[in-house]
Amino acid sequence: MKKVLITILVTLAFVSAATIFAFAGGSKIVGFSQVDNQNPWRLAETESIKSEAKKRGYKLKYSDGQAVQANQIAAVRDFIAQGVDGIILAPKTSTGWEPVLKEAQEAKIPVVLVDRDIEAPKDLVVTFIGSDFVLEGEMIAKMMIEDLGEGPLRVAELQGQPGADPTIDRKKGFENIINKYPNIEITMSQTGEFNRTQGKQVMEAFLQAAGDKIDVVYAHNDDMAIGAIQAIKEYGKNPGKDIYVASIDGVRDAFVAMKAGELNVSVECTPLMGPSAFDALEAAWRGESLPDWIVNEDGAYRSKDVDQAVLDSRKY
Ligand code: AHR
Repeated sequence: MKKVLITILVTLAFVSAATIFAFAGGSKIVGFSQVDNQNPWRLAETESIKSEAKKRGYKLKYSDGQAVQANQIAAVRDFIAQGVDGIILAPKTSTGWEPVLKEAQEAKIPVVLVDRDIEAPKDLVVTFIGSDFVLEGEMIAKMMIEDLGEGPLRVAELQGQPGADPTIDRKKGFENIINKYPNIEITMSQTGEFNRTQGKQVMEAFLQAAGDKIDVVYAHNDDMAIGAIQAIKEYGKNPGKDIYVASIDGVRDAFVAMKAGELNVSVECTPLMGPSAFDALEAAWRGESLPDWIVNEDGAYRSKDVDQAVLDSRKY
């Protein structure tokens, strides 16, 4: 009898704890302002945030900025006006955020930055969660030099969105390394806006202008590299062989291209930020402070290392 009573009491305690927990999660509303959804990396990030909100019982208000910073600023203002409990912001560009972040701070709404950093006083946000983009650019350059030697090499660069933190830092990292080698130079450089269609269009223009004078394509993300691979094939050359192709993100399509030998290297940049973003918001709600930057650790892959098992193991 005593045993039964204890079992009932323990069960009741668990049920009420679960109810309180679910209520605590369910009572919180979080706004998420996304840059855009024009490549698989960003779709994976959106999905990671949405599914983690659901898992933890938070109501998520989601806004797609459609690659326009003004849309994102308007969305953050709207979240503030609605009195959300927290905001997750994936900012398009690195500047122009201070006024709206001050408004959030005045409203006592914590803001967690994911995937791209900004130029603003650190106390305006809880933390920045993201990769080291300078390191990514450096890794690409080092792998290229290991594979192709010290030159001469003519590099065509497909840059990401202008003014975005990864565009600035991936360029900087790559140049940090190649500037030590006088026979390696970036001979063409233009934005492909981090998407496949524009990556292909820019590569077509590069090939028209100097098809026989391109040794390497360095794309600031995989999606532009995949567009470039298509352009190289249509031009009649073999991507991965006639022209070395290197990019960043580690999305599934990049692994398919590496397995086919058309993409030489891809440096990972994880979009799976949902768990760490909500951990950070919860820390802020508890009044805890976090480091200015929570660095995501990323790997690097070469075409020769990618088989079906590696491809099957990819989570995004
Ligand atoms: O900020 C991360 C970058 O943004 C990813 O490399 C890219 O694919 C995305 O759009």
